[in-house]
Amino acid sequence: MASKISVQYLGHSCFLISTPRAKILVDPFLTGNPQAAAKAEEVQCDYILLSHAHGDHYGDAISIAKRTGATVVAAYELALHAGAQGAKVHPMGCGGGKDFDFGRVQLTIAHHTSSVEGPGGVVSLAAPVGFLIQAEGKTIYFAGDTALTMEMQLLGSRHTIDLALLPIGDNFTMGPEDAAEAVRMLKPTVAVPMHYNTFDLIRVDPENFVRAAAKHGGKVQVVPPGVTLTL
Ligand code: NI
Ligand code: MN
Repeated sequence: MASKISVQYLGHSCFLISTPRAKILVDPFLTGNPQAAAKAEEVQCDYILLSHAHGDHYGDAISIAKRTGATVVAAYELALHAGAQGAKVHPMGCGGGKDFDFGRVQLTIAHHTSSVEGPGGVVSLAAPVGFLIQAEGKTIYFAGDTALTMEMQLLGSRHTIDLALLPIGDNFTMGPEDAAEAVRMLKPTVAVPMHYNTFDLIRVDPENFVRAAAKHGGKVQVVPPGVTLTL
């Protein structure tokens, strides 16, 4: 059967998910990203999902949203922040799901922080989230920036996850060993590492993730920026 969903890794935590109905861009950080596999001025999308407000996720969202007319989907305060800058937005809350024209998006728990730098300093802006994306009979879990959490076991027991996108860079998020434990709990058909090797602080060997996940039979595919997977 012909594949209906493609997922292109654009570097760091940015992915472009294409379904027959829509192009969904997740956490666009392209400008200033040494691993970016696309230019912010050229990427096309209908939706932009934002896991949280840190610059390495929120980065190019506003400029892309304004140029393309894409709808920004994010937790409430982050959606309002994006809306105040001129983006079309759809606010949601952690645990909430919504049926869009391409499929369903549910916000999942992520243990991390979320903030922007304003004129008065750093301000917190909505709780960070991950995404469960269901379209064309497939389920993609994008964990966002997060620690290993027991919620992943709940997700793995309640959903058949075709693709899990997991941070492995350590320091700010799970490292390779914890991400391997996440794979054990999520039981995805395949897991793909993200949020590593973009900067020195998150430099890790993704093969350590591959090996650690393989100990419990987890399948990991290391995907270089620019490469597209099909589901
Ligand atoms: Ni972050
Ligand atoms: Mn980050």
